[in-house]
Parts: sequence; structure tokens; C-alpha cells
Amino acid sequence: MSSDHKTSPLDRRRFLGAAGLAGAGLAAASLPLRAQEAKPDPLITEVQDWNRYLGEGVDKRPYGTPSPFEKHIVRRDVSWLTASPDSSVNFTPLHELDGIITPSGLCFERHHGGIAEIDPANHRLMIHGLVDKPLVFTMEDIRRMPRQNHVHFLECAANSGMEWRGAQLNGCQFTHGMVHNVMYTGVPLRLLLAEAGLKPTAKWLMLEGADSSGMNRSLPVEKALDDVLIAFAMNGEALRPEQGYPLRAVVPGWEGNIWVKWLRRIEAGDKSWQAREETSKYTDLLADGRSRRYTFIMDAKSVVTNPSPQAPLKHKGRNVLSGLAWSGRGTIKRVDVTLDGGKNWQAARIDGPVLEKSLTRFYVDFDWAGQELLIQSRAMDSTGYVQPTKDELRKVRGVNSIYHNNGIQTWQVRPNGETENVEIA
Ligand code: MTE
Ligand code: CO
Repeated sequence: MSSDHKTSPLDRRRFLGAAGLAGAGLAAASLPLRAQEAKPDPLITEVQDWNRYLGEGVDKRPYGTPSPFEKHIVRRDVSWLTASPDSSVNFTPLHELDGIITPSGLCFERHHGGIAEIDPANHRLMIHGLVDKPLVFTMEDIRRMPRQNHVHFLECAANSGMEWRGAQLNGCQFTHGMVHNVMYTGVPLRLLLAEAGLKPTAKWLMLEGADSSGMNRSLPVEKALDDVLIAFAMNGEALRPEQGYPLRAVVPGWEGNIWVKWLRRIEAGDKSWQAREETSKYTDLLADGRSRRYTFIMDAKSVVTNPSPQAPLKHKGRNVLSGLAWSGRGTIKRVDVTLDGGKNWQAARIDGPVLEKSLTRFYVDFDWAGQELLIQSRAMDSTGYVQPTKDELRKVRGVNSIYHNNGIQTWQVRPNGETENVEIA
């Protein structure tokens, strides 16, 4: 491959010209992809094994899995982050993915008491409290209710939490990988509540999981009646056990913690439950000792997934910068990208569906002359909100926080292509 990088004097001049443009923030891929004509290649001129022998027939792989050549593309954890894998988290390999849908098997996992393995025949959802008629639903009951399909991101409030005080983890999988985006199929919660008949005094619901942690959270009735889904499928098939099989709450745009998995109970009440996860956890301790609470909505955020520390630049000349942007308040309107640490910004090319409260894919097609780059992306959502720098966030939120860090990420690309997590603002 390296021979491809040798450029003729003519190409070299064009190369420098393009680099100059990039410096002025006008980067657009302009170099030919390959500087030289192709030579005879044994991979083409000689017959290969996969071309010579019969392959495996149908039914050898009744449930398909990725090619063995893709086996390094997995969820990964950070071993020192938590004391035990039962109450822990791993991360989506964002730098290996494209488009907007996260493959089910690569969705990050966050469990407080391990994965509950539940036979759907033995699963029940109870709705009680301030309702006219307490009800217990079986999975079959739920499948007889009108259902909807929606693509939404789920971001843990702790995503990027390790980065509050400065650059720490070297890879977007670890800095930003507590997010996934799948298509859910489920029943609007408002329809289930209507069956039970919410009393007018009901202002909050308590959602509780059937896992060993029995994790619970309080959800305002207003949101429950708006767009919350009780989902049984993701990406067209049943939820994965890791994601709450057979039933989970989908709370679009809101922090992942409230998306209760293995959902077994919804109690209607007139106050919030002051559960562990909304008092000692998932609150933001400010510099003056006060705490932000019930900060449910995940503000606009973005990250460049390629290049990034786990996906360095390998080629001079043409390259594709790629990334993801999302907002819990609506759609992504625009993503700006800088290659020079914020001196020049350009609008990224958004491609693929731009959906409400969903990951949105963006690209910048650029030429790289081998100079150092300081790459950042900055998302703007449909409310006009612009993603802040980390310094801007720290100014209002102090440095005690872990949760709700949506600050701008910086990657430094060195002349040899290696890429590092750094902070410049
Ligand atoms: N629900 C139950 N019952 N138990 C849990 O441990 N973890 C919560 C939430 N729902 C959790 C839960 C947290 S903190 C997050 S971020 C999301 O589920 C993670 O969802 P995922 O594992 O599908 O990524
Ligand atoms: Co979480």
C-alpha cells in the first residue's frame, strides 16, 4: 500500500495546494484516490481458495454472525472503572461502526446486578398505585396492543464522565461509547396507562426492573403520556437479554438510567420516589454544594469517531472523517468540524436519516498532507442549542460532576497518523 503514497511532482503540487485549502478551513477531498495506475495484483491474477472450493451451504449458520475477520469489533470495558462485572459497564465500539444503527450485539451494556435471564412466559408487568384498576399484563397481552417503531439513542448520563477534569481515556469507544441507537418496537406507555385509568392525582410513575438490583426510577407522568414506549423488540427482533429482554422502557432523549430494563412494575403516585438513582446517583454536584437533580434530557453532543485514538489516520491524501451527533431535544440541524483546533470551522456533510432523538451521521471528506491536526466537532440541534466546550461546561457546572458531560471532544492527529485524546478548551 505504501507505494500508493509516492506522488509525482505534479501530484505533490496539488497535494500542497489542497493542504493550504484545508488550513483555511475549506478542506474538500480533491486528490485522486491513487496516485499511480494499478499494477498486476496476485489477488486478482491468481485463483484464491474462496474461489476454488465450495463454501458452506445454507443452514450451516442458522443465526448469522459477523465474519471472523471482524472479531476484534466488540464491546470493551475499562477494568479499573468498577469493582465487579455484575455492576459495571462496557462500551460500544463507535469507531468501527457506520450509519446510525448500532448492531444489537454491540450495544453497550450497563447493569447494576448482572443480566436477568427471563422466560417471557414468566414475565409480568404490573401497573398499580393511583389508578382506577390495577392491572397485570403478560407478554402476550402486550403484543395484542397497538405498537409503534421508533429509532432512538440511549446515552448513559455517565457517558464521557471520566473526561470532566481533563482528557483521560484514549478512544472514542471509552470516552463516548455509552451510547447506542436502535429501532425499537413497542407499545406507547400512554395506552397501557389508559387501560388501568390514571387518576388525576397521579403525577409521577415509578418504574422498576425485575433484575437482581430491582433498579427503579421516577418518571413524570407528562413524559409517560408523551413519547415513552414499552418495547419488546430492537432492530426487528426480540430485545437482547443485555438490553432488558423481554421488556424495557424507552424514554426518548432522556438519560439512559431511566430506561428501566426487565421492566416488571409501574406504580403511579403523586410524588417522585427519591430513589437511589435520582438522589445519590445521576445528580450533578455544583461548586457551591447544591445539586442539579432530575436533569433528564441529554443535551446536544457529538464526537468524531474516525479518526480517533483507536482508528488512527493511515493514508496521506484523501481521507474520510466521520462522526456522530445527537440531541435529546429534537433533531440535529448542523455539525461543524475543525481540523486546526478551532481556527477554522466547516459544516460537515450529514448523510442518512436525520431523526428525532437519534444518532445522526456526519462526514468531512478531506485531504491530509501529514500535518498535525486538532479535530473537533460541534453539534447544533433543532432548538438552536450549540454544543459547549468543556471549559464552558465547567464554568457553570464546576468540576465535581461525572454526569451529563456533553462538552466538545478534541483529537490530536500526529504527523505519523497516531491519534490521541487531548484537551484544548
Ligand atoms: N434497568 C435495570 N433494571 N437495571 C439496570 O441496571 N441500568 C440503567 C438502565 N436500565 C439498568 C436499567 C442504566 S444506568 C443505563 S445507562 C441503561 O439501562 C443501559 O441500557 P443498556 O444496557 O441497554 O445499554
Ligand atoms: Co447509565
